Amino acid sequence: MDPNKAKARIEALSAELNHHNHLYYVESEPVISDLEFDTLLRELQDLEAQFPEFVSPLSPTKRVGGDITKKFATIVHRYPMLSLSNSYSEEEIVEWAERLKKGVSEPLEYVCELKYDGVAIGISYRNGQFVHAVTRGDGTRGEEVSNNVKTIRSVPLSLKGTTADDFEIRGEIFFPKKAFEAMNRQREEIGEPVFANPRNSASGTLKSQDSRVVAERGLDCILYGVYGDDLPFETHWDSVMTAKEWGFKTPSIEQRYIAKTDSVEGIMEFIHYWDKERYNLPFEIDGIVIKVNSYSQQQDLGFTAKSPRWAIAYKFKAERVETKLETVTYQVGRTGAITPVANLTPVLLGGTVVKRASLHNADQIEKLDLHLGDAVYVEKGGEIIPKIVGVNVEKRTPDAQKIHYIELCPECQSELHRREGEAQHYCLNDQVCPPQVKGRIEHFISRKAMNIDGIGAETINALYQKDLVRTVADLYDLTFDEVVNLERMADKSANNVLKGIADSKSVPFERVLFALGIRFVGETVAKKLAQAFKNIDAMITASYDELVAVEEIGEKIAIAVQQYFTDERALKTIQRLKAAGLQFEIEEATLDSNLLEGKTFVVSGVFTNFSRDEIKELIERNGGKNVGSISAKTSYVLAGENMGPAKLEKATSLGITILSEADFVKMIS
Ligand code: IVH
Repeated sequence: MDPNKAKARIEALSAELNHHNHLYYVESEPVISDLEFDTLLRELQDLEAQFPEFVSPLSPTKRVGGDITKKFATIVHRYPMLSLSNSYSEEEIVEWAERLKKGVSEPLEYVCELKYDGVAIGISYRNGQFVHAVTRGDGTRGEEVSNNVKTIRSVPLSLKGTTADDFEIRGEIFFPKKAFEAMNRQREEIGEPVFANPRNSASGTLKSQDSRVVAERGLDCILYGVYGDDLPFETHWDSVMTAKEWGFKTPSIEQRYIAKTDSVEGIMEFIHYWDKERYNLPFEIDGIVIKVNSYSQQQDLGFTAKSPRWAIAYKFKAERVETKLETVTYQVGRTGAITPVANLTPVLLGGTVVKRASLHNADQIEKLDLHLGDAVYVEKGGEIIPKIVGVNVEKRTPDAQKIHYIELCPECQSELHRREGEAQHYCLNDQVCPPQVKGRIEHFISRKAMNIDGIGAETINALYQKDLVRTVADLYDLTFDEVVNLERMADKSANNVLKGIADSKSVPFERVLFALGIRFVGETVAKKLAQAFKNIDAMITASYDELVAVEEIGEKIAIAVQQYFTDERALKTIQRLKAAGLQFEIEEATLDSNLLEGKTFVVSGVFTNFSRDEIKELIERNGGKNVGSISAKTSYVLAGENMGPAKLEKATSLGITILSEADFVKMIS
């Protein structure tokens, strides 16, 4: 492609992708499919690879991460990043409003907002373009985390029609509850300790050196304050509403995340509403923020040393109850990790009955100095799982027994180990310890791994009890008689089990690799490894250097992979699985034909016999290439019903052949 054309195409694609990003992540109203989006993104990535001189630091390709920041630069805040004064009672809010009245002459108007429980961020824009993003730091200077913030899809990289050419917008970066839970599920799957609280994890993630990690974790950002010297508004409310028009994700009026009121009663109504409703929000909040709306009144009221007088935070009381610690039990995970659990006298907390609380690890038990029968305080704060925050020592009886962390595995009695630098204890008896043996098989058959229908944890337990399975390879030796003789197993179910096992032999290599349960090898890593090494033998013999050369594979994963393949028992299992017919190499996609080789297609409109995605797949399976928009290079436009008139006109003016669905079917048959 000629460089001028490439440059123009890169710009057009970037604008189009930015637009769709906004519709998806800010408006939650996408108008194109994920596949269409990915096709455009891929075209941009390809062009950027060919013409690196035209890559903008604000390209939508930066959203997927990849930029590494070795050390974050420190940036002095143009406007200091202050904090809010906190209040914990309604009286304090009333007093605050009374004080305000004395400081201003005109009637007051307030804006009430949610107090997002995340990490504060200041993002600067110049001429409508993202410049940098800086954390709060000590309030005077913070760390520049631009590469990481750029991966948050709801943060715009270029703005829509703003008249303010130099300003900073501030807000909060946080983990949506769903993204936090998904991340923890994934961590559990690969044997990494789970994170305890969304706020700390958001903060840790934001400081990650590898922006790809940030991109994958799904942080979000809500912006709630504009700072600049010549801003085109006179009230805070207008600034938030205008920021929304510029393309920022701001608090929603419809969902009552923000409201305007001229009375203290209005403030109280907002507080009461969210005190109840906060548990139903898709993210964590720890209170309400009330701000004076008028900028000129804000100026009249001014600041104390640490915080503005024109704003105040009302903090929700963390719900805390006292109950009795009955026992501490220890769970053994698939990877041998030990998790202590506090069993409590059931108690009502935040609308649910709490019977158990996580104790995380030995240090936590030691720190709380827990004794059996203790009266403990339990809180449901930022954490999803309730936690013990303290002990009412006055209620402790003199003969109460201190809790000592176990030294032997509760399941197999082998000695526990704690690796240097890790908080968790592990049982290393992985070949015998029942929950580890069963857990590995459960992981193997799970939906995202081998997806073996008809078997669940109960069947695995029954097979284990009868000594029929000890490793995943044993599944493939099971006979009908063995299965049907299990308790509560009818002929039909036994057949289902065997069919599920047989069907799993066609599961692709990357999922087999994930199913093996190698430490730190989750779904994505398994995919990368499978693509890089193509088959298991190449992986078994791969050197450390070859492993770390693979995209996303770091030292920790490389060591775990090498360790796994030095274990004779693992190698034997793999041999048996291979002999059983499982896939241990990637299947290169085979083409149906080369009929469309060298041809590029733009697919548009609605089709009768195929979905748009199916048509695109057919193009690729016959050697053709899909592109997102029409250019002189396009070979064909494949037009369904309702194709836009602009596209039609462009195709006609460039003299591109327009195909109907029937023409296309003829072409490939
Ligand atoms: S306004 C002068 N609005 O709370 C400070 N802050 O203790 C202006 N926060 O550092 C901040 N939600 O990280 C404001 N709706 C909201 C907020 C909010 C959360 C955080 C912010 C700030 C801290 C103040």
